Amino acid sequence: MHEVISKGQAELIDIVMPGQTNHYGTLFGGVLMAQMDKAANIAATRYCKRDCVTVSVDNMVFQRPVKIGEVIIVTARLIYVGKTSMLIRVKAESEFLGNLRQIIIPCADFVFVAVDKSGQPIPVPSPVLSTSEEQRLFERGKEIKENLRRIC
Ligand SMILES: CC(C)(COP(=O)(O)OP(=O)(O)OC[C@H]1O[C@@H](n2cnc3c(N)ncnc32)[C@H](O)[C@@H]1OP(=O)(O)O)[C@@H](O)C(=O)NCCC(=O)NCCS
Repeated sequence: MHEVISKGQAELIDIVMPGQTNHYGTLFGGVLMAQMDKAANIAATRYCKRDCVTVSVDNMVFQRPVKIGEVIIVTARLIYVGKTSMLIRVKAESEFLGNLRQIIIPCADFVFVAVDKSGQPIPVPSPVLSTSEEQRLFERGKEIKENLRRIC
C-alpha cells in the first residue's frame, strides 16, 4: 500500500492561559511538549490511518519563555517513513501582537510507531515523495532515525 507523504501534516493553535503556566507566568515546558506530541500524533495517524504511539523525541531545546496571552502555533510534518515507524518534524512558534518567533530551535523530531490492537508494531504505507524538498527531508529523516537507533 502507498500513501503521499504530504498527508502526514497537522497544525495546532492555542493561547497560553493561567492554568498552563508556572509561578513566573511563563508556559510550562511540559504543556508545550504535550501539544507537540499531539500534533505529531495527528500527522502520523492522518498518514497511516492506524493507532500510533510515541517511541522517541529528539532536539527539545526551549529557546525563550512564552508568556500568558501569547499564541502558540505547533506545526507537524511527516518527513520519513520506515517499516512500522514514522519520523515527524515539529516546529513550535509563538505569536504576540503580530510578531512570530520560534520557541524550539531548530525543530523537534518525534518518532511514532503504528500499532495493532495489542500494541504490537504493524507496517505503515510506503511513502510517495512528490517534490525534491520531500526527497531531501526524507534522506535527512532516514539519517536521524538511523542515529537514534544506534544510541538506544
Ligand atoms: C513503540 C513500541 C510498540 C515499539 O516496540 P519495539 O519492540 O521496540 O518494536 P521494534 O523493535 O520492532 O521497532 C519498531 C520500530 O520502532 C523503531 N524504534 C524502536 N525504538 C526506537 C527508538 N528508541 N528510536 C527510534 N526508533 C525506534 C524501530 O527502528 C522500528 O522502526 P521500523 O519498523 O520503521 O524499522 C514499544 O516500544 C512501546 O509500546 N513503547 C511505548 C509507547 C508509548 O506508550 N508511548 C507513549 C509514552 S507515555
